Amino acid sequence: MADTAVLGQPVTFPFSKKTAKNRVMKSAMSERLATFSSDDPRKRGQPTEELIRLYETWATGEIGIIVTGNIQIKKDHLEATGNAIIDRELSDYLEDYRALARAAKACGSLVLGQLSHPGRQVPITIQSSPESASDIEHPSVAGVLFARPTPLTREEIGDVVQRFAYAASVLFKAGFDGVQLHAAHGYLLHQFLSNRTNIRTDDYGGPLLNRARLLLETIAEIKHTVDDPSFMISVKLNCQDFIYPNDGVSEQESITLTKMLEYAGVDLVEISGGTYELQLAGKSGNNFSREAYFIDFADRLRPHLSWTKVCVTGGFRSASAMVDAVQRNSTDVIGIARPLTAEPFLITEILRGDKLRAKENKFPSSQTYHIAAASSQIAEIGNGYDITDFSNPFNVSRFIAKLQQELPTAMSETAFTGEETHCL
Ligand SMILES: Cc1cc2nc3c(=O)[nH]c(=O)nc-3n(C[C@H](O)[C@H](O)[C@H](O)COP(=O)(O)O)c2cc1C
Repeated sequence: MADTAVLGQPVTFPFSKKTAKNRVMKSAMSERLATFSSDDPRKRGQPTEELIRLYETWATGEIGIIVTGNIQIKKDHLEATGNAIIDRELSDYLEDYRALARAAKACGSLVLGQLSHPGRQVPITIQSSPESASDIEHPSVAGVLFARPTPLTREEIGDVVQRFAYAASVLFKAGFDGVQLHAAHGYLLHQFLSNRTNIRTDDYGGPLLNRARLLLETIAEIKHTVDDPSFMISVKLNCQDFIYPNDGVSEQESITLTKMLEYAGVDLVEISGGTYELQLAGKSGNNFSREAYFIDFADRLRPHLSWTKVCVTGGFRSASAMVDAVQRNSTDVIGIARPLTAEPFLITEILRGDKLRAKENKFPSSQTYHIAAASSQIAEIGNGYDITDFSNPFNVSRFIAKLQQELPTAMSETAFTGEETHCL
């Protein structure tokens, strides 16, 4: 039986000096519980009481660090309807974000707001003129269409940097411990990083240092604007894009990039992998046959870092795999997403030794079901309903029948679990 004491150890971050009460992080999951209006962007993105209830629940689950779902920095560039937004052209919703921070921090978790811009990865139903690094269109996937993006001008890139910094400053005022920049999974920051989506010939394209410029400028501007060294900055990165041969961000580039992030004063790098485009097309080359999909990369990354802490996310289900990952020194922090929608108090039980692994759901192998199930459980928790138990085959068949009437689903961050998914 795994001795979970190691998971209960506090982690102090090198630059902010903030301390997480234990080694477990709830990774970002798009909640889609903010307001949305299709015709009036001014009525979008306000946190609702359902969103706050969701975080009240997770707050009591003994989680060391809670990362929110992706909060968008531009009201007309959303990953999905119902995203929370902080856009200086809207109300800052400061009181709502204060309530959210209060709820999530009630039992001593550190709370990070994940900031993102979808770039070209915005469904055409939300944005017909998206912006990106270059004019490379996202292929349609599972019935979701995307428009051809326009490359951002240098001035517009400056505006994006300012927007990230503004959103971070609102979260700082609201009482968040820090932000996480979403630079994984094919969103705008990742579109700049990847030579597949960035073919620019200016200072923001070409060598890795140029492709990383937007991310590095954003980090510098957040530090300058917030002007408080105790405000944490985390970045979510792909360990690689799993596009062969030699396309997208490679493993060596990710290692170099992580070293740049350490120099930039990033406290925590969360390791994920893959992009929506390739994952949904079922072309990812990763091997997801075991827990902790990206742990081998973390092992190769660790010797290159002196300060920045690492969180590996994707696939953790058993206490023994979590303990093993920490004891082998592969990671400082264990990132967990889907198990916490089925069992918000899983970590309490694991830390107490009352439980050895997360509940196993009875869905067939298609990840689309697993993801839709997590989304639906998020809505249930937010609404104060009982959480559907998908370890019960009857609930699973009922859910699948309902889902099949609703597909194709909207494009969303929910496609990113790090596992191979298949077109339906
Ligand atoms: C419903 C759902 C929503 C997600 N939304 C986000 C998101 O907003 N930002 C993000 O970085 N990752 C998002 N992810 C990916 C998770 O953070 C995590 O990387 C992935 O689920 C693998 O971890 P797991 O195996 O513990 O679920 C989402 C995943 C799910 C299932």
